[in-house]
Amino acid sequence: MSESIYGLKRTCMCAELTTEDVGKEVTLMGWCHKCRDLGGLTFITLRDRTGEIQLVVDPDSEEVIRNKASQVRSEYVLAATGKVQLRSAPNEKMKTGLIEVALTDLRIISEAQTTPFYIEEDDNANESLRLKYRYLDLRRPNMQRNLMMRHKIAKSARDYFDEQGFIEVETPMLGKSTPEGARDYLVPSRVKNGSFFALPQSPQLYKQLLMLAGYDRYMQIAKCFRDEDLRADRQPEFTQIDLEMSFVDPDDVMKVTEGALARIFKDVLDYEVELPIRRITWQDAMDNYGSDKPDLRFDMKLKDVSDIASKMDFVVFKSALENGGSVRAINVKGGAKFSRKEIDSLGEVCKTYKAKGMAWIVPSQEPRGSFLKFLTPELIEEFKTAMDATEEDLICFVADTNKVVYAALGALRCEAAKRLGLIDENDFKFCWVTEFPMFEYSEEEGRYMAMHHPFTCPMDEDLDMLESDQGKVRSKAYDIVLNGCELGGGSIRIHDRSLQMRIFKLLGFTEASAQEQFGFLLDAFKFGVPPHGGLAFGLDRMVMLMLNCASIREVIAFPKVQNSSDLMTEAPAPVDPKQLEELGIEVSKTEEPDDDFIAD
Ligand code: AMO
Ligand code: AMP
Repeated sequence: MSESIYGLKRTCMCAELTTEDVGKEVTLMGWCHKCRDLGGLTFITLRDRTGEIQLVVDPDSEEVIRNKASQVRSEYVLAATGKVQLRSAPNEKMKTGLIEVALTDLRIISEAQTTPFYIEEDDNANESLRLKYRYLDLRRPNMQRNLMMRHKIAKSARDYFDEQGFIEVETPMLGKSTPEGARDYLVPSRVKNGSFFALPQSPQLYKQLLMLAGYDRYMQIAKCFRDEDLRADRQPEFTQIDLEMSFVDPDDVMKVTEGALARIFKDVLDYEVELPIRRITWQDAMDNYGSDKPDLRFDMKLKDVSDIASKMDFVVFKSALENGGSVRAINVKGGAKFSRKEIDSLGEVCKTYKAKGMAWIVPSQEPRGSFLKFLTPELIEEFKTAMDATEEDLICFVADTNKVVYAALGALRCEAAKRLGLIDENDFKFCWVTEFPMFEYSEEEGRYMAMHHPFTCPMDEDLDMLESDQGKVRSKAYDIVLNGCELGGGSIRIHDRSLQMRIFKLLGFTEASAQEQFGFLLDAFKFGVPPHGGLAFGLDRMVMLMLNCASIREVIAFPKVQNSSDLMTEAPAPVDPKQLEELGIEVSKTEEPDDDFIAD
């Protein structure tokens, strides 16, 4: 199984041993998890990737072995030979708890200092410390399990796509910037000082060119790089399961994607994904859930109550309606029991999403609420009926532009569900979100931006509105959503050069600037382009959701922290001035890094 070490050969892994091996002589190699010396009788728990087994050195053993055993400390690397025997005191918590190995030979292969934290299943060590000593953190059984599951998920995906006729093609890391909405990581050129490669935000353009090159069905487990603010489900460097297909419509891509999900969840978790996965248009998702990634594990839908609100003389509601916005509400079932303080803290959630406030009522016999002076018993009754509320419920209102109302109530809906314990952590609720708007107005940039990316095809029926009513145009884009998280996204692409130019123009490109940035694509489009489309799953997110981990860092071997640095290698770091000179780079400003805080 392994090469010979000091004349010893490993015969099996620790947790592979069972009662069937009793009587066999085995040689194991691994780390000392724990060592207990009970006065001559020494127990060592040996750990490797498969798990743990108890080694025992009894007082009748040879003196050399007893001496060696007395030198063993936690995390020493050991080679141990002995006979498998039944334990007199079985340990039910251990997979190998019925047996142990009585040692006839013991070697210390490598010593270890005291580790900065215990190598335990659920260690509560500070995360910064865990990340600084990530190689030790990765020894923890739960981290090993996470990475092994990640491998299984990737393998299952590869198997599935292979069986479906996809081939894996690698695309470059050093390339030209692809606009996916984030800032690029740049790599300076030594050969051409002043010029830069961009690390790919995704293989988007390369996979489209592969379709043009006739590869028809492509997939890749691809590294992507985006310099953006990190969150619990985002990393600057992450992995996609990326796919692209030729001669397809959205339905074809969605079917293949559903097949992949069903296969992966079955292979890895033995979970049956219910197919077909429900489809919700973007507009319905926003109207009902206030989000383009709705969490369907609970209901609590948003309702538009602008009609009733318009009858009131409440300036907050009135001005929102007059400015073209809306008044919407959710019924927090059973929320009447919340204290004033708890209700106020729900209001704070709305405010973090730019709402100016949150109005509320409890429509009981003696109603409570934040805007009672503007309400009549009839109006309360109307709201109660519209919201399908009882006296035990809490109705929360937000009035603003639709964008703010959706964001605030969408977030409030999730927070309220969390507080009411409505979320079943073991449930998987998938949906597709379709018919995304093609463009999104950016207040910051003062112009329309592509909501997905500029290569996304508009819906045929909306093509006429491109120049006249840009904001209303929908696209052939679709996202696959799981438990309120965007698991993947894709679209049918534009395959017509003139339509692509039209879109570039609407995004503010001139003929010359489009040619400069995407000349290779526009040129390629002159040589016969098949209609094509695809999708990319976030692999890290998929693993995180499948394993129910709270953070994406738990499923990545060497992740970055909030300020995009790596606490173990201390990258990014200054480089030798000579390297900069070769690159023709002069650093005008150096900044002390922020504290290495980890917050989600
Ligand atoms: P998109 O930008 O939607 O699409 O990315 C696809 C999926 O990748 C995951 N993802 C991330 N995961 C971790 N950290 C990040 N910073 C991060 N950003 C994105 C998400 C997301 O759904 N080229 C298109 C795909 C296509 O059109 O085929 C693309 O990259 O799960
Ligand atoms: P006021 O009359 O200013 O005391 O406001 C009454 C209630 O309206 C308070 O509970 C505020 O939190 C709430 N409120 C303020 N702005 C908004 C808004 N844009 N949408 C919903 N409620 C709001």
